[in-house]
Amino acid sequence: MKIALIKGDGIGPEVINQALKALGAVSERFKCSFEYQEALMGGCAIDETGVPLPIETVNICKQSDAVLLGAVGGPKWDSLPGNLRPEAGLLGIRKAMDVYANLRPAILFPQLKSASSLKEEILVNGLDIMVVRELTGGAYFGEKKKVITEDGIKAWDMMSYTFYEVERITRTAYDIARKRKKKVTVVDKANVLESSRLWREVTGEISKEYSDLEVSYMYVDNAAMQLVRNPGQFDVILTENLFGDILSDEASMLTGSMGMLPSASIGIRKTGIFEPIHGSAPDIAGKDMANPLAAILSCGMMLEYGLNMKNEADAVYKAVNTVLDKDYRTVDIMQPGMKSVGTEMMGNLVAEIILSDTEV
Ligand code: IPM
Ligand code: MG
Repeated sequence: MKIALIKGDGIGPEVINQALKALGAVSERFKCSFEYQEALMGGCAIDETGVPLPIETVNICKQSDAVLLGAVGGPKWDSLPGNLRPEAGLLGIRKAMDVYANLRPAILFPQLKSASSLKEEILVNGLDIMVVRELTGGAYFGEKKKVITEDGIKAWDMMSYTFYEVERITRTAYDIARKRKKKVTVVDKANVLESSRLWREVTGEISKEYSDLEVSYMYVDNAAMQLVRNPGQFDVILTENLFGDILSDEASMLTGSMGMLPSASIGIRKTGIFEPIHGSAPDIAGKDMANPLAAILSCGMMLEYGLNMKNEADAVYKAVNTVLDKDYRTVDIMQPGMKSVGTEMMGNLVAEIILSDTEV
């Protein structure tokens, strides 16, 4: 398997290096091999090549079976114009790889329950939500403009969707729901937005082919509220790009551990992009403080969704659970009585557990 590595900026390289230890353990235990090729994106690419997404990076990604990404960005590049910021590299690679489906699981690890910002009684039934966010359309990629008019400056970002764009992400979400609790909440603003009304039309149409699913609709403002009031009601949340950006941050924070959550971005091509949902955290970069578990779990998602290696993925997920059961914690999830470890040590522990475990 050929894996493109975009380590990126800040803590990106350190957490990806731990994920590679986990993959090394997987290849040893399951007798498979991974070939890595590094590529530049984000701030480090700007420093070295002048642009956030060099064409060579796109080529490397397209020739790989999966892309593993750390994080990009940092204050050093914040004053650059929009199209030259590290974030433009991220949007560019999503578009170039056509990864229209962004899967963001928000899972409450029982071992970390007390880290959630919600009261325990709201979390009695745990929390296991899969946010399926459309990733290559909507306001992020619609026409953008800033003009001077008679009334002064005016700027816009067009939020538009085609029937086809909604259809394909809907099928992804519905297929995922079939393997879960079969419940999909489509989140939109259909009381105001025409694009949302198209989403209702398409999701309704496709749901006729998925009569085993329970599909319901919720306005985005209500969804933001319901997520903190009663998050247990959600299974799969399907939504457009911008709403998904906002709601997935909210959902992840409910778990109390943004440093624990992975994501997968997949599309029609076989090559997906797998990355932790956290950012580049420049303030703690290089200090052996970052939590590598989100990057390691992203490897798990890469194995599961990108490389069709479910057993191997399960070994990774299980090792992360075991390391938490053994009370090891990085500083972001540290609690009294637990054993505090750094980034490197956490990576070593997970790799050791993958190797020493004999059942899956
Ligand atoms: C995310 C991030 C990005 C987004 C930014 C960095 C462009 O917030 O992956 O959620 O808005 O998609
Ligand atoms: Mg975001």
